[in-house]
Amino acid sequence: MPPKLAQPADWDMDIRLPDAEDLNPDPNVLEVNIEAREAEVELVPGVKTRMWTYNGLIPGPLLRAKRGDRLIVHFTNQLPEPTTIHWHGVEVPASMDGTTAMQDPVRTGETFTYDYIIPHSGTFWYHPHINSSAQVGYGLYGPLIVNEPEEPIDADELVLVFSDVSLDEMGQLHPGDHLDWFGDYFGREGSVQLINGKVLPRVRAHPGVPQRWRVINASRAKLFQMAVPGVPLVRIGGDGGLIEHPLPIESLTLAASERAELWVVAPPGTHGEIEVLSEDADRFGLGVPEPPVALMTLDVIDVGPVDTPSLPEQLRELTPLDTSNAKLRRIEFGEVDVDGVGHLAIDGKAFLGDHSGEDGHHHEATHVAYVGDTEIWEIVNTTDYQHPFHLHGFSFQVLEQSGVAWPVLEWKDTVNVMPQSSVKMVVDYDDRPGLWMFHCHILDHAKLGMMAVLSVQRP
Ligand code: C2O
Ligand code: CU
Repeated sequence: MPPKLAQPADWDMDIRLPDAEDLNPDPNVLEVNIEAREAEVELVPGVKTRMWTYNGLIPGPLLRAKRGDRLIVHFTNQLPEPTTIHWHGVEVPASMDGTTAMQDPVRTGETFTYDYIIPHSGTFWYHPHINSSAQVGYGLYGPLIVNEPEEPIDADELVLVFSDVSLDEMGQLHPGDHLDWFGDYFGREGSVQLINGKVLPRVRAHPGVPQRWRVINASRAKLFQMAVPGVPLVRIGGDGGLIEHPLPIESLTLAASERAELWVVAPPGTHGEIEVLSEDADRFGLGVPEPPVALMTLDVIDVGPVDTPSLPEQLRELTPLDTSNAKLRRIEFGEVDVDGVGHLAIDGKAFLGDHSGEDGHHHEATHVAYVGDTEIWEIVNTTDYQHPFHLHGFSFQVLEQSGVAWPVLEWKDTVNVMPQSSVKMVVDYDDRPGLWMFHCHILDHAKLGMMAVLSVQRP
């Protein structure tokens, strides 16, 4: 039998994100300091760009934990305006969710400690929840990777944080409200696409030796579509950890804030450099896609036959949520006029005030649900654009998208709703009462009002 082979030496050196420094000796506690501050970062080689960062890094420090671990984050804000940290996709207690519905903004110079148990594995991320379209656009986002205590997948992991940044001729950030209303309405996509804060980084691979890519779309608006010509892709995970069974895909499409795990194996005999492409996903349905842009170079080094491990047919045991007693909730992504200005809305109401920074605190609930209930949500999009729907705090199972059954059983917290179309998902509410935001994760759209507040209450 041919040998099992490791990755090439320094295979991920150009792109590997270092783990955050863990201040706590307890192996079941991850305790870190995170400071939001301005810093000069070299995104484009040779150009120093002034960004907003966590600990001076783009993306922010890689937090890596196991299901059941306790995460303690001592957070300090050294930015010129208030901010918070939201733990996207993590089923935290409401008080730890980092929205202005549940906590005071962390003002300049102030500190807040986030402290909670991480109940599920998955590929998560963190970002501000005040003025978030601007703050995420300025660079505030970072990965949170949560493995199972015993990982069932045997492959080397690579965390890939996709983002984009909008730079002027001097290589400096455009203001967060660049192009004003048009920027909000269409969603600001950057001029430069990044993986782990780099332009066109490089990864090495041996044919037949699998890599597990954990991909996070941390852009404020962009719909990423990634293809690796000549290399078959298999999706093995989504937002909330492994999916029930492997799903071969042509290319990986991730709406803003969605995540995926891929099993990537260059076929035997492959040799040389492959451009990993960012294809135009045609978010506006124009029908005339832009040419693809190279995102990353995959350098495949052939060393002869190897013994490739195969994927199990079932990756994870998942039970479909019982919908027999589910209540039906219908919400609508739409548009509305506010004082003669076009806004985006949920159920006819534009939510304004989460980007104020100062007064965004203590929002009133727009919707109510009860602990212990199971609900089927039908999310209807009456606009001509896509809107990635995100619910805080409670992961869900997608039943159908645009009338087509979802291809695999998995936990998600974000799902793209296509124009003039709808999504159905099922969610149940465990005992974590509080105010939970839900919104379009094109953060410019959330700013323009496409956001609402679900009050989960004990019956
Ligand atoms: Cu990732 Cu309310 O957000
Ligand atoms: Cu939207």
